[in-house]
Formats: sequence, structure tokens, C-alpha cells
Amino acid sequence: MALISASILNGDLAHLADVAEAVRQSGADALHYDVMDGSFVDNLSFGLPVLESLRPCTGLPIDVHLMIREPLRFIERFVRAGADLLSFHIECDSDTAETLRAVQQYGIPAGIAVSPETSEEQLRPLLPLLRPEDFVLMMTVRPGLGGQSFMPSVLPKIRHLREMFAQAGMTAHIEVDGGINDVTAAQCREAGADYLVAGSYLLGAESPAEAVRLLRGV
Ligand code: DX5
Ligand code: ZN
Repeated sequence: MALISASILNGDLAHLADVAEAVRQSGADALHYDVMDGSFVDNLSFGLPVLESLRPCTGLPIDVHLMIREPLRFIERFVRAGADLLSFHIECDSDTAETLRAVQQYGIPAGIAVSPETSEEQLRPLLPLLRPEDFVLMMTVRPGLGGQSFMPSVLPKIRHLREMFAQAGMTAHIEVDGGINDVTAAQCREAGADYLVAGSYLLGAESPAEAVRLLRGV
């Protein structure tokens, strides 16, 4: 059964504790926390102090997605601020293997995020570094904004990555992020994703609990 992480980027940012509580009541498994630095992506969101403030407001795991140019400089600080899962982009300026090790040493799941235009083949040399609890985050929109349309061109990449995992005897997770709703979630699950991020679809649903059920596909 797919796990669901609720992106709070398009939630009511003046009342994040209420957003976190609504997400808990929906039955979602985690909160997805998008960090943008205005350089790696052309937008700014929230960073360390907001994460520190949110941490004691929820018992849900916080799935931090770093869309920043130099994640290696900030790994320790994000872990200390409360990240329970931590992903960063393969396209950033920090060395991917070194950054992965920096996250793994804290004993939390580490994720390598991949933008839509990046080939999944770039992950091949890194696969031996992924532990079963680690994950690849396949972006299904261009990173930088919530509420964009899902890019179906990513589906064959997800399918191929799942095959690459199988060939390597790996059971790491595939997370998808961007434009996920009941229809695109089903497509992603079928392609091999087992961890789905949903923002506007979930937070804007009349019944978030029903939305989570549809996203899981049960
Ligand atoms: C995009 C972010 C996503 C986004 C998802 O840069 O990484 O997590 O907030 O939001 P929706 O589900 O609305 O596309
Ligand atoms: Zn994200």
C-alpha cells in the first residue's frame, strides 16, 4: 500500500499547526516540507526556523524536500530542526554521494530527488549507496511551485527506475511529487511508485480522508 505525504506548501501558512492537525486527521502518513532557496529554484518558501516551530506541533514524520543549491551545508541543521526523512536534488551543487552519506549518518531515510528533465540513468552509479529505507524522489512537475499539472512523461522513467531497482535486487522506495491526484496517483503506483506526495489535491479536498484513501488506491 502506498504511503501518502501531504505537502503543506499550498496550505494556510499562518496556521501551520492547524494544517498539520488536518493532515493527521486525514490519515496521511507524513508532512512534506518543501524548502526553496531562490537560487536552485526561482522561489522562496520556508526553512529552519519554521521547521523548528512546526516540529512540536505534530507527531507525524516530517519529510523534508530540499530544493536548494548547497544541501550539504545544511543537512545537520535540518536534522536537528526535526526532519525525519530528508531529500535533496541530484542537480544541485553538492556532491550527491557525500550528501547522501551525510543524511544516512543520522539514521534517517535519505532521498535523491530528480527533476523531470534529468535522466534516471544518472542514478545508476548511486544505487549501491541506497539502503532499503532510502528513496528516490521523482519530480512529476518542475520544482518550485505547488499546484502545477502532472507531467506524464515521467511515468516511463518511474517504470524504468523500478526495473533498475529490481535488477540490482533493491527494495528502496520511489516517491513522486507534483500534480498528484486520484488519477495520476494510480498511474504512478502502477509504474512502481510507493510513496506519493500530494499538496493542493489533498489540502483542497472536501474530504481529505477520502482523498487519502483514493491516493492509496485501497
Ligand atoms: C514542488 C514541490 C511539491 C509541491 C506539490 O516544487 O516540491 O512538493 O508542493 O504540490 P502539488 O501536489 O499541489 O503539486
Ligand atoms: Zn516537494
